Amino acid sequence: MGALQDLLGPLAQQFSQLGLGSQIGLGFVTSIVLVIVLNVLNQSLFKNSNEPPVVFHWFPVIGSTVTYGMDPPRFFKENREKYGDVFTFVLLGRKTTVCVGPAGNDFILNGKIRDVNAEEIYTVLTTPVFGKDVVYDCPNSKLMEQKKFMKIALTTEAFRQYVPIISDEVTSYFKRTAAFKGQSGEVDIPPKMAEITIFTASHALQGKAIRDQFDESLAALYHDLDMGFSPINFSLHWAPLPWNNRRDHAQRTVAKLYMDTIKRRRAGGEKDAQDMMFHLMNSTYKNGVQVPDHEIAHMMIALLMAGQHSSSSTSSWIMLRLAARPDIMEELYQEQVRELGPDLPPLQYEDLAKLPLHGAIIKETLRLNAPIHSIMRAVKQPLAIPGTKYVIPTSHVLMSAPGVSASDPNFFPNPEVWDPHRWEKDSTNAPTMAARVVDEADEEKIDYGYGLVSKGGKSPYLPFGAGRHRCIGEQFANVQLQTIVAEVVRLFKFRNIDGSNDVIGTDYQSLFSRPLEPARIHWERRDQS
Ligand code: HEM
Repeated sequence: MGALQDLLGPLAQQFSQLGLGSQIGLGFVTSIVLVIVLNVLNQSLFKNSNEPPVVFHWFPVIGSTVTYGMDPPRFFKENREKYGDVFTFVLLGRKTTVCVGPAGNDFILNGKIRDVNAEEIYTVLTTPVFGKDVVYDCPNSKLMEQKKFMKIALTTEAFRQYVPIISDEVTSYFKRTAAFKGQSGEVDIPPKMAEITIFTASHALQGKAIRDQFDESLAALYHDLDMGFSPINFSLHWAPLPWNNRRDHAQRTVAKLYMDTIKRRRAGGEKDAQDMMFHLMNSTYKNGVQVPDHEIAHMMIALLMAGQHSSSSTSSWIMLRLAARPDIMEELYQEQVRELGPDLPPLQYEDLAKLPLHGAIIKETLRLNAPIHSIMRAVKQPLAIPGTKYVIPTSHVLMSAPGVSASDPNFFPNPEVWDPHRWEKDSTNAPTMAARVVDEADEEKIDYGYGLVSKGGKSPYLPFGAGRHRCIGEQFANVQLQTIVAEVVRLFKFRNIDGSNDVIGTDYQSLFSRPLEPARIHWERRDQS
């Protein structure tokens, strides 16, 4: 005790001789050091053997937020190597438990409703953007009914109508856009693909009247809605900040536009339209209540937003991959000439099934560049992870990352190589026996309330998710993307500006991953006349 006094006494005396500024500065640094030391001691001394290992981090609250946010796939890969398929990290103060691999995918995505919950996590972001009473602003059973209404509208008959609409949008876009004037040039491709995606999706899903407004006011309003999806809004969704005010104004304006359209259509006594809005206008919940107009309007916003980011990012990646592999772009052209005839007649829905390489381009791009890298769920009751001694408490958030198994060499040989031919049976890079075994074991179908879907959770390849929150837009996205690819291939030859096979890195700053920008490529018209 005396020795400690001997040591601290002179230190306290020296401290009191410092100026006020220096005293505050020193006090601040000492507190930070103390917080770091306590945080490190806490991690090494108080491990709970019934909980997954925690990724080492220096600072509390910040935890691994920065390393995760910079490159989530690399974060998952490195920590999987260190800690195994189940580990916890601190994301903005929340303990977040990641479960990867086919078993992890299944555990989270096919989790029971009483165990895991999506709306508690996502509602703060989605409700101000979509509007009330839909998707994550209602009980899950209601979402399942809403998904059923939306899915039923996406019929083969509807797709037959969509293909010529999408084809026309693509060709007229390239005719009128200044960046594609002349015989060849260079272009930053992602913003162009974003425009093509919104024009094609809005025209196909929402009809020509709504599509036409995208040339005027709607594009800017949807852009303002989009700003509501920035990750910072997980905490600041409520704040009266400029981007949130614009988001709220845009939501009210767009919803009113849809509701006015619905009123007009009801008054006009339309009988047999095929579009999504008309279908929702004639849908009734199980309890006998007809879907109210404001819910239809909010579902229309949700549908367009859900599809926009994922399809736009995927189509950009496809174009960048083709610019890096002009030989494959040529193979696509030859596939169309061979299967559809050298005069390349206008594309029909039935043609898409004759073009397997076009389908494989999308499949392979989604394997390596799936736009949704992390899927989160709240934990509703302490959850035992099968095959481990871990029990996840309700204070944790669960995170699924299906991209990890999609780039695992145990399932996909040479996983980092973009090889659309790997989806052909005899390819050397074809999915391994292990991948096929889990896939085949997963043939079981299940109905969560929005129609039969394959249970699919244990597959190593799940770019469209699995379980009750599985994507209902997969077929539409495939039709849209295949048609866009087929039309682009008919018109252009792409290559990288430096002629290399390189592909640009990924921007993980927004909720959906996408190519870093600018991502410029060289284009040349196929028809030199
Ligand atoms: C859900 C991916 C296109 C509508 C999902 C989920 C994924 C996904 C991974 C699951 C999210 C979760 O479990 O939390 C994709 C990809 C797309 C795409 C990769 C394109 C390449 C579309 C399109 C639409 C759409 C075009 C609309 C036409 C939806 C809806 C959900 C969903 C309504 C359900 C959300 C829920 O139940 O919680 N999508 N999607 N998606 N997607 Fe997509």
